Formats: sequence, structure tokens, C-alpha cells
Amino acid sequence: MIRLSGVSRTFEGRSGRVEALRGIDLDVAEGEFVAVLGRSGCGKSTLLRLIAGLLPLSAGEITVAGTPITRPRQDIAMLFQKPALLPWRTVLDNVLLPVEIFGWSRAKHRERARQLLDVAGLAGFEKRLPHELSGGMQQRVSLCRSLIGEPRVMLMDEPFSALDALTREELSGELQRVHMENKPTIVFVTHSIDEAVLLADRVVVLSPRPGRIRKVVEVAIPRPRTLGRNAHLADVAQVSADLHELLMEREQPASVGAEGH
Ligand SMILES: Nc1ncnc2c1ncn2[C@@H]1O[C@H](COP(=O)(O)OP(=O)(O)OP(=O)(O)O)[C@@H](O)[C@H]1O
Ligand SMILES: [Mg+2]
Repeated sequence: MIRLSGVSRTFEGRSGRVEALRGIDLDVAEGEFVAVLGRSGCGKSTLLRLIAGLLPLSAGEITVAGTPITRPRQDIAMLFQKPALLPWRTVLDNVLLPVEIFGWSRAKHRERARQLLDVAGLAGFEKRLPHELSGGMQQRVSLCRSLIGEPRVMLMDEPFSALDALTREELSGELQRVHMENKPTIVFVTHSIDEAVLLADRVVVLSPRPGRIRKVVEVAIPRPRTLGRNAHLADVAQVSADLHELLMEREQPASVGAEGH
């Protein structure tokens, strides 16, 4: 569904060049949930913005459903780290924003918007303004907005990282449910190992500066998953430990073998 070949991105600024990503090759299958895990500054947001068509490539190619990405598309939804709601629009009108932007039928989507808000625990808040809601509620509104067009692809940039642990777990559960029901293809950026293990079919671990793929780790744990006590605790612990090691690993200089002889 999503194919990246030889994707690189360098930023040229007054203060010099920053090579953010180098030679990224990745295939994400239709309906797959891929987490991109890496330390701060390793190029995760850049990668998502490239896939979303919000930023041009320096080299390589990205296709979604076989078509090269050159600009944002209606069937790709992006969810940012901060809620990014329009402060003067009601909750309902914020959820309906893509409907206006893309000129879809408002009558048809109104009912769906209400249903989404209902499922997200926001029934009764349709007419409120964003500042009347907590941060967690605002991010839930953003999640509803990203789901209104039933996107085939969802790109999510640390969407729950500003939330408290419990709200975060709740929304992760909600996202798992959406994924199991509608099967959108999801690329989810995070620096949380827990979140990656809870949500992803595969975890792409990026190494920093320039961002490259260090390893792709499969998470073969049955869904729905929870981080609490469950039958797969040992598997969760094993994958988490593997990811932790990969994240902590220092880059080896090219001339020194990994075995060190
Ligand atoms: N618009 C830009 N202009 C110049 N440099 C940029 C720009 N955007 C990103 N960079 C640089 O590219 C690198 C990767 O940034 P990016 O935001 O993709 O990292 P990240 O992995 O998302 O980090 P975080 O986890 O902190 O969000 C950084 O070194 C950053 O300084
Ligand atoms: Mg980022």
C-alpha cells in the first residue's frame, strides 16, 4: 500500500545542512499497522510528512496504492502530536472540517461525525469550543476528525504523547478497535516502546542522524492487546526488551566489526 524506495531528505538552512533521512526502503502492506520508533530528532516526523506529501523528497520515491506522492491526498489522514483544532469552530464543525475542505456532502457526514464523537465519549460536547475541553478530549476530537473520511491510510505523529498515561491507554485501545474494524493502513510514529508493542504488527526502528532503518521487528502477539496482566505477558516483555536494546545501541564506527575482534 505504501512503498518507500531510497527515500532521503536533507534540509538546507542558513546554519548549514541537516541530513534528516538517508536511504529508507520500506513496504507497508494494505491494512498493516506499522510503528516507527526512534529517539528524538532521528527523522520520524520528517518521514511522516514526506509520506503525507507535505514535504518534497531529496531523493527516492514514495508511492501510495501505486501512485507517487506529490501532494496531500483525500484518502490519507494525518494526525499531529498537538490537537490542531480551529479555536473558533465547535467540536462538531472541527470534525466536519475535511468535509468542507474536500467538498464532500455535509448531510451525509453529519450523522457519522456524531457517531464518532459518541464512540469517543464526547456525546453532548458537539457544540462546545475546543478551549472548553481538556487536552485529552481535544485529541479525541482530532482523532474523530481524522476518521471522518474513512481514510485508507492514517499517518499518526506521536498523537498521544502529550496525554496522561490512562487517557493514552484508553485512546490506544480506541485506535486498536478502529484498526481491527476498518483495517486502514497505519504508520504510527512514537518514541514509546510500550505504545509500539501494544499497537503495531511491525516496528521500524530508526537510528539517528541521519535517520536510517536499523531493524524491522515483527510483533506476533494476538489482538486485542493490553499492557496489563494477560496471557502474553512473556511475549510482550521479550519484544519490549529487544526494542529497548536496539534503541540504546550505539552506532558502531564502520571500521569496527559488531563482534569487536
Ligand atoms: N524544516 C526543517 N528545517 C531544517 N531542519 C529540519 C526541519 N525539520 C526537521 N529538521 C531536522 O531534521 C532532523 C529530524 O527532525 P524530525 O522532526 O523529523 O525528528 P523527530 O524524530 O520527529 O524528532 P522528535 O521525536 O523530537 O519529534 C532534526 O535534526 C531536525 O533538526
Ligand atoms: Mg517528531
